Formats: sequence, C-alpha cells, structure tokens
Amino acid sequence: MINSTRRTFLGCAAALGGVALLPRNALARAAAPILRAAPSNAQLVPSQYPATPVWAYATEGVGTVPGPEIRVTAGEWVRTRLVNDLPQSTAVHWHGIRIANAMDGAAPLTQTPVEPGSTFDYAFETPDPGTYWYHAHHNGTEQIGRGLAGPLIVEERDPWLGQPGAATRELTLLLADWLLDDDAAIVGGRWDDLHAASHSGRMGNTITVNGKTRPAFDLRLGERVRLRLINAATDRVMPLALPGLSPRLVALDGHPVPPRAVETILLGPAQRADVVIDAPQKASAALSLQLNPGNGEWSGIAGFVLDGDPVVPEPGEVRPLPAWGTLAAPDLTEPLRAAVVMEGGAMRGMDGASFRGERMGFRDLAANGIVWAFNGVAHGLEAPMFRAQRGQTVQLQLTNRTFFPHAIHLHGHHCEVQPRSGAFNQPGDVRDTVMVGADETVDVAFVADNPGKWMLHCHMLSHQQSGMMGWFEVT
Ligand code: C2O
Ligand code: CU
Repeated sequence: MINSTRRTFLGCAAALGGVALLPRNALARAAAPILRAAPSNAQLVPSQYPATPVWAYATEGVGTVPGPEIRVTAGEWVRTRLVNDLPQSTAVHWHGIRIANAMDGAAPLTQTPVEPGSTFDYAFETPDPGTYWYHAHHNGTEQIGRGLAGPLIVEERDPWLGQPGAATRELTLLLADWLLDDDAAIVGGRWDDLHAASHSGRMGNTITVNGKTRPAFDLRLGERVRLRLINAATDRVMPLALPGLSPRLVALDGHPVPPRAVETILLGPAQRADVVIDAPQKASAALSLQLNPGNGEWSGIAGFVLDGDPVVPEPGEVRPLPAWGTLAAPDLTEPLRAAVVMEGGAMRGMDGASFRGERMGFRDLAANGIVWAFNGVAHGLEAPMFRAQRGQTVQLQLTNRTFFPHAIHLHGHHCEVQPRSGAFNQPGDVRDTVMVGADETVDVAFVADNPGKWMLHCHMLSHQQSGMMGWFEVT
C-alpha cells in the first residue's frame, strides 16, 4: 500500500503512473488524484463477526480504515481532490503540517464544508519530516468515529533508515477506538451525548491497529524497527507500552527528540510518537504493543511474531532523527502573552459562558449542547482568542481548571512545551497537541510565523464539539 499510494499523491504529472486507474472526474479535469470519502465496510473484528459499516477514504476502489497512507518527502507537495460521497458535508485537515492557511481544512474557519456530491482541491507543501495524519474536520466526533482518518508520513530529506544506529525498517501503526454494538456496527445516534462529552468523551469498546483488532506483525530476530504510532481515537488517551522491545522515543508529533528510553508512552488524542524498538536476539515470550485502558491492566492490542532469519543487531545507541532545521526558535524576551483557561465539564461545571455572542447560564448552555468553555467563551468562532503579528513569539499559558485532562491542539504551528509539573510533558518537547492534566498549567511558546486564522481546540472531539474550541490569528 505504501509505495503504490505514494506516487499518486505527488504533484508532478510524471509521477501519475496510475492515471488510468483514476476515477472518471479526475480524468475529465485532469486534476489532482482523488481522495474519496464515502460509506464503506471494514472487517474490524475477527471474521466470525460481520464487517462494520464505516465511512472511509479511498484513493481508488473501495475505502479502507485507516485511509490510504499518504507518503511524501519533506519539501514535496501533496495534491489531492477531495470528493465527498458522504451523506453529510466534510473537510480534510492535515494534522500537524505547518500548512498554508487556506489548505488547513478547518471548516468552517478556513473553508466552507464541502457538501455531499462536491469536491475540494487541496495542494500544500510539507515543510517538516515526521509522522502526521489526516482526518475529517467537520462533525469530527461522528466523522472520525466512523473511520475518516489516515496516516500522512513525511520522510526525511536525507534518509535516516539504514544509517548506522538507525532502524532498517518502519511500521506505521494508526490506533483507533470504536464504539461497536453486538453486531459489530458502530453505535450511532449518540454522537452528541452530553454525559460522555462532559466527562472523558465518547469512549469506544474496541481498539484497532491499522483497522484490525490485535493484528500481528513480523519481526526478525535482532531487528531494529521504527514504529510510527498515531492516536486517531476521537477521545481516548492511550498509555502504551512495548515490553521486551526496549522502546526509545525519537520523535513527538513529528518533531525529533533526543532518543530516550521510555517505559510507557502516553498518547493523547491526535498525538504521535516515533519509537525505535529492538527485537530480541533469541526467541522469547510473546511480544506485543500494550495499552492500558485506565484500569491499571495492560493488554495487547497488536502482536509481534519473531520470524525469518536473524539480523545482525544494530549497536546500542539509537541514531537521532535529523533536526528539522525549519522551526524558528521562540524569543522569550518580549513575547505576546496569551492565556487559555479551560472550564466546565462534570464535577466542576461552570456558571455560564458566552455562546454565539450571547451570555448564557449553565442550563441554557447545556440545552445548546455546550458544557465547556475557553476563557469564558464556548465554541468561540466570532472573534480570535488572540492576534499575533507575523514573526512574533507567543507565550501561551494553558490552564486547566477542569476535572479532566485535555489535549490542546494548535493549528498551523508547533510549540515548545514548558511544563511546570505533571506527567504529560517534558521541558523542551515540541508538539502540535499538548496534554494538560486536571488542575495543571502548561506554558507553551511558538513563533507565530504562519499567517492566517488558526483553530485552537481540545482534540478530545466530544469536548471540541461541546465548547472547547476557539481560534487565533496571525497577521
Ligand atoms: Cu486534528 Cu483541528 O484537528
Ligand atoms: Cu478536552
């Protein structure tokens, strides 16, 4: 899948080897390759159960979950025509790419949602290597909850794979959380469940890795592999572990970190981690990627099967990923200071907030599906939370006054995290989605160098939908 998909997304016409396979509209207008969003079916659970009706992306043929992996090299362009064959409007967001504003897919802020039967052409440069993903950005809880997400991999300009101390192979693992009924159908009709929204959000009951429950991946003895882990769940925070595989973290949200050994990897919704693992040199007990659903018990969500000829193991030290070299360093001497105060939700609540320009009490807010707010404004689309001048450093204080953690995502930028405490962040991590624990304050800083209107929201999509949403402007 990786290589056949790859070339079809490149902008250059000569790369369109598969042109004869493109659906009719593309040929008619000789435009970008198609990314079709449409209902499909997926065998998420073992085959004694029925296939699950999903919404899925396809570049050709029927849609799959996750959507086809899009793979380019840093500096290349992705060009694709979204064709909406869903029963509702949609838009595609290219999560984590420092993208031109008009291509951000953040409906309704950067584009109007694409109606059923309509198309939208996306074309953007991918400045920074790393692990990203694309997903629907309209009715996110429902559209991502039904399957509209896929990996977007931007390779290093100079290949890291195969270098001394690097991995020899990589695996993209997109993790999703589905709420299925006894017939393996997605539980619909509860997408705006306010009880779930005012707690941790819509929790599923079935975790898939690349669209399968507990798939198995081959590993050779002694092999060093780079895992690209993507949390594509609508709401679930995923504590992950790779026992027996000596995991070393090499990137967060696409941005390199100095390799560090990790016992667990905590991925909030939308976050990514690149992790290098070493397969044992001798046959060993069962190996797996494990997830702790919050009850303290770890269970395998994907297996690794030792198979094939042993490889000569790489020397101990993991080779760091090459630095981006593209991200301006924040200058904290005179930053623009801004704050995001999170309020609301179960156990704390809020007295009121303004919604659609009107001040409302708790009950009226709830009647409008709102249980959260940023800075006293719920789902604020009327005015920006702050305005920065292009090139200005923004120091943003993220204060969580609620009982739950939140995954705060900044569009169009990556920020340097300066936590004061807490389990979720280490000083200096650079991320596009920052977990902020209950009652925690996290400072982040970034250079506002990408002009436009950028969303800032909780990536627990039930929280976003019920109020945790705003935007900022870079002029
Ligand atoms: Cu991953 Cu506003 O999105
Ligand atoms: Cu949240």
